[in-house]
Amino acid sequence: MSVFQVDFAEPFFSIDYVENEADYRVTKKSMVINLAEREQRDIGLSGERFIVPLKAAVVQDMVVTDLVRAFIVKDYERCDLDDPKTVDAIKKSWKLLYDVSGIERHKGLPYYKSPKFCIGEGSGRMELNFCYVDKGGVPSGPHRDHDRDFDEVHAQIRGYGMMRVYEREDNVHIHQELNMAPGTVHDKMYDSKGMYPWHEYKSVTPCVYCPIEIDR
Ligand SMILES: [Fe+2]
Repeated sequence: MSVFQVDFAEPFFSIDYVENEADYRVTKKSMVINLAEREQRDIGLSGERFIVPLKAAVVQDMVVTDLVRAFIVKDYERCDLDDPKTVDAIKKSWKLLYDVSGIERHKGLPYYKSPKFCIGEGSGRMELNFCYVDKGGVPSGPHRDHDRDFDEVHAQIRGYGMMRVYEREDNVHIHQELNMAPGTVHDKMYDSKGMYPWHEYKSVTPCVYCPIEIDR
């Protein structure tokens, strides 16, 4: 039973990583992300409602229950993306996506990555980070393969974004646009073998989102 304060997104976001807690009291408006995908355990909200694995909810003044594995982004609206000082500080402290990935399609994109938070080993190991996008309407580049074999979803934290799923690489034949507001985690795109369609994140407004990667 543990509650760890994790600092990878500090000072902009205060996050608790919670494992095997029967209950957790949320006071200020916070985002609860259920990470118990491998365990397939729901988080309880006031007895009758649940957060299923790889989904999130925004809650306030409530005790949530049965947290096998969860992120609590505490008072997440404290990070004000309309404040130029905050935005400037994020850009100085997080790294440009291209500088992290070295992938050609990331060159020049106004995507900034926080350090990563990693937990566990082997199958089920998780990597999470926060990503700030400085402009709305900027696609991150269609792809189907990743640098590792993992199950991937994204949680929207601040602002608005979408996951675009393509029938083909040309991104003209769009299959789905999965819109995301704060507290939304888009539906899974990968199949049972871990194969992905062409997909990309696209900002709608300046925003912060959280990629969640779970090793197969
Ligand atoms: Fe991806």
